[in-house]
Amino acid sequence: MKITNSYSFRGELSVPGDKSISHRGIMFGAISNGLTEITNFLQGADCRSTISCFQKLGISMESQGTCVLVHGKGLHGLQAPAQILDVGNSGTTMRLISGILAGQPFESILDGDASIRKRPMKRIFTPLSQMGADFQCWEPAVFPASKKPAASGCAPFTIKGGKLTGIHYTSPVASAQVKSAVLLAGLYAQGETSVTEPILSRDHTERMLAGFGAEITSISTTASVKPEPALEGQQIHVPGDISSAAYFIALGLITPHSEILIQNVGVNPTRNGILKAALAMGGNLTLHNERTVSGEPVADILVKSSSLHSATIDGSLIPALIDEIPVLAVMAAFADGTTVIGDAQELKVKESDRIAVVTENLTAMGASVTPTQDGMIIEGGKPLHGALIRTHQDHRIAMAFTIAGLNATGETTLDDRNCTVISYPSFYEDLLALTR
Ligand code: S3P
Repeated sequence: MKITNSYSFRGELSVPGDKSISHRGIMFGAISNGLTEITNFLQGADCRSTISCFQKLGISMESQGTCVLVHGKGLHGLQAPAQILDVGNSGTTMRLISGILAGQPFESILDGDASIRKRPMKRIFTPLSQMGADFQCWEPAVFPASKKPAASGCAPFTIKGGKLTGIHYTSPVASAQVKSAVLLAGLYAQGETSVTEPILSRDHTERMLAGFGAEITSISTTASVKPEPALEGQQIHVPGDISSAAYFIALGLITPHSEILIQNVGVNPTRNGILKAALAMGGNLTLHNERTVSGEPVADILVKSSSLHSATIDGSLIPALIDEIPVLAVMAAFADGTTVIGDAQELKVKESDRIAVVTENLTAMGASVTPTQDGMIIEGGKPLHGALIRTHQDHRIAMAFTIAGLNATGETTLDDRNCTVISYPSFYEDLLALTR
């Protein structure tokens, strides 16, 4: 795929439904009684992996466009899977489903693609083992033909659920996936379960589980859940994904003569770091029509071309924009001054090592970038030139560098654009519709 900088971008769009909320809608619907109806569901490859895993656990679902009906079977209605649960590229599927499987009276085997097999799962094995579940990792090179035990802390692995005991877990990382896995296991445990994080991560699990009827409370960075709730199916309208909106925010800000209205975007305060960072960089960005939909704050975001300047992005802002850092780094390359991104070591264990991969690709385009242990330093304001972008099959790298290429001189080529199906299958159509 080749990209050049001959356009400005004007008009309105709605980005697809939020990935985190779409996953949770399927999972929580599956373990609730009766029907859950999800509208504006994200039909991306990751959320489809969640659907397929729950089908293997005996849940029936119907899908028409972006509407999904989940026929929930209650907290104890899942069946032992006859096949491996393949999560594809999806860390959210693997980590959250493990929390649910920890409470089941059967064994399940989880696996996924080459990227997921490298991602750390010890972070969920530790608390879920303390609660009473058992894990065994397998040597990936010979799996599934042969099951050779491995001490990798990574997929593929078998999880043996059982009788769980509630714990109080102090998580070393601010991770909504870890927090959610423990809270979901807590639904099946004896006694209360709570999780304290170093910084509050996205709180969709807390908000949505409460909506399904769980007894769940949050005080500051601690969330607690009581066991054996009677969860009831819900109607959920998924807001647009701010992580997908971020590409159009960056595009509108850095491309001259552009003005983009992004409608129906989830602006949950645990997710809206990109808005704060863009404003701190001098971006002309305003929120309109603020409202609450299915328990989540939603707004329309108007972005106009701006002269950006550098900022320091670190501390408690990081969990609220962790997935947006690749495109934020692109914005920083177009901003005057030196932007420092810190406290973001989690970037190393995403779909790719995003510190290394962002550095590699921005450098290929002529930017001055220094990778650090927990982020990067970007000296902005130098014009970028087109280059061959190596996406490492990471959807967020492909989309972030498409935005960079649209503002660089010459031609930019992505080695793979298909990975955008993970979170935003219609990204290129939506982009094209805004070209002027
Ligand atoms: C997610 C949590 C974040 C985020 C991921 C989605 C979720 O991961 O990066 O894309 O839906 O809970 P971590 O929990 O690893 O920070």
